[in-house]
Amino acid sequence: MQDFIAALPKAELHLHIEGSFEPELMFEIAQRNKIEIPYKTIEEVKKAYQFSCLQDFLDIYYAGAGVLIHENDFYDLAMAYYQKCYENNVIHTEIMFDPQTHTQRGIAFEIVINGLQKARLDAKEKWGINSLFIMSYLRHLSEESAFETLKQSLPYKDLITSVGLDSSEMGNPPAKFKNVFEASVKEGYIPVAHAGEEGPADYIREAIDILKVARIDHGNRCLEDENLVQEIVKRDLALTVCPLSNLELRNTDVMTNHPLKKLLDKGIKATVNSDDPAYFGGYMNANFEAVQEALNLSKEDIITLVKNSFNYSFATDEQKKTYLEKVDEVVNEFAK
Ligand code: HPA
Ligand code: ZN
Repeated sequence: MQDFIAALPKAELHLHIEGSFEPELMFEIAQRNKIEIPYKTIEEVKKAYQFSCLQDFLDIYYAGAGVLIHENDFYDLAMAYYQKCYENNVIHTEIMFDPQTHTQRGIAFEIVINGLQKARLDAKEKWGINSLFIMSYLRHLSEESAFETLKQSLPYKDLITSVGLDSSEMGNPPAKFKNVFEASVKEGYIPVAHAGEEGPADYIREAIDILKVARIDHGNRCLEDENLVQEIVKRDLALTVCPLSNLELRNTDVMTNHPLKKLLDKGIKATVNSDDPAYFGGYMNANFEAVQEALNLSKEDIITLVKNSFNYSFATDEQKKTYLEKVDEVVNEFAK
């Protein structure tokens, strides 16, 4: 099963680039930018990565991102992630980035996007990886701040596919961002949002009804509302589920209780993703392996999950066709 998971070409639909910041690279960049970080060794870092909830994690995640200053830093960050994509056979990825995490510290929007874009081109050339960018608004900040970010993004509109909503969910419902999502859609961005990770099922409903999302990030808590489950199925909305993240942020107590299989059984188009792999202990293959083992998923389940990711990606129909053919090739190879 492990070989099968590794061999399958995969798409990743929920990945925060700032969450792929491995401690080794963080040390290196901190040193060259002459920034002090509160850890002396990798062991100290790993010890700090024990989270009791989303906010606990976010505090450390934002602090880590604080060492990113120059275009080169964002380039190195993204290239390190693309290298992991290559190693995990991720051939298509939709990368979230948080402009406000950087602009709030005085780093210009263009520094961030230019570094990411250079890496995207190099990763395509070096490994053939296709990628799209999702610009995510920080929901603990105001809608006005999101509007400012939208404005800053406009010169780079052609480089960005989608807008998302992340950060502290409780107390920051999707409705808070109604106007900026409307304006973003008018600019051509596809709307997605984190909802129902820690927040209640009602937040998922708001993301669907008010933000008009094309996909739901996490969405685990929809299972608490059967009508909502039916609505998600009816509207054919995919969920970008993140197993190791759910475990590390205590949204799932043990992996054997993870809701992924239940979601599939309800007819929901669930996908598997790594969220913040440097903080949660694993990239795509590790996420697949962890849920496969804990939930005793069959090969058919794995194929469904992998195909869902391609089908519900924002790739073109032509790309999707090519991707799915590649999946079938590997499936047939393993069936022999
Ligand atoms: N949830 C919400 N916001 C985030 C996350 C997450 O898992 N990772 C980075 N920002
Ligand atoms: Zn996330």
